[in-house]
Amino acid sequence: MDIKMRDKIKNLLKKRKAIMLAHNYQPPEIQDLADLCGDSLELSIKASQTDAEVILFCGVTFMAETASILSPHKTVLHPRKDAGCPMADMVTPEELEAKLAELPPMPVVTYVNSSASVKAISTICCTSANAIAVVNSLDADELMMVPDRNLAMYAALHSKKKIHFWDGYCPIHDSLTVEDVNAAKQKYPDAVFMAHPECPPDIIDMADAALSTSGMIRYAMESKSRSFIVGTEIGLLYPLKKANPDKFFYPASLNMECSDMKKITLEDIVRSLEFMEGEVKVPEDIQRPALKAVQRMIDLSLSKGI
Ligand code: 13P
Ligand code: SF4
Repeated sequence: MDIKMRDKIKNLLKKRKAIMLAHNYQPPEIQDLADLCGDSLELSIKASQTDAEVILFCGVTFMAETASILSPHKTVLHPRKDAGCPMADMVTPEELEAKLAELPPMPVVTYVNSSASVKAISTICCTSANAIAVVNSLDADELMMVPDRNLAMYAALHSKKKIHFWDGYCPIHDSLTVEDVNAAKQKYPDAVFMAHPECPPDIIDMADAALSTSGMIRYAMESKSRSFIVGTEIGLLYPLKKANPDKFFYPASLNMECSDMKKITLEDIVRSLEFMEGEVKVPEDIQRPALKAVQRMIDLSLSKGI
């Protein structure tokens, strides 16, 4: 990376008393600069605990919004407001309320990949790292899970509860096919196959482990295996290799690239910090109820050591 650029960003972060958070799918040069890289759960927890005045969030919109929900008195900057998550747009509060009106009363578990206004009408949030624990923590036999149908089906495999699922999905993870995985397994017969819970059920069936992005990094570190087929967005290959330089990682499919996760550039970060551009602020009437759902998830995760 250009050393001048790196120093410029480091100086701006210091000047703004800012912390830089980056998701595990972000480009390598961004991950290398961040104070913390992680999965959605780790980044949410950090956003709730930091004493920095500014949170510079390198990820997609729902992640920056979650930071604003958790730290309403801090300035949250998202250097590219057009970096969204297509799955998060697959449910609106109006659609969810209409669906709930057709069903008996039940809790709503909302994946953090959702808008702040959907979180605001939810009982509790979840991430890919804690979905099973969240579902099983509820004092109800029946619940609604939005927006990811694949995550809901994965949670249902590990719960006795009846789960009503929304028909949303991640276009990147949902595109992984049995043929892709069979081809990778044939090419790398000794490799362990790790899949993200956003993958379809037939892919989860084929996996040695279904894990969040940071879960995959930890699993590879602890595993005796030396090679892994990675069933998630290809940006994860960088932190996997960084944490495990002597191990080998192969994408389950080269098509698994999230263009939204690659939008932020170093130039965008400089502009955002210099001019305080890209501020994300969740309005108070949405932030307050959304905080209840996100905080319940964080409290549960911390109490269970997830
Ligand atoms: P993780 O929380 O596992 O990092 O996943 C976030 C995401 O957007 C997956 O597509
Ligand atoms: Fe959303 Fe999928 Fe991109 Fe994750 S990989 S941010 S779920 S579109």
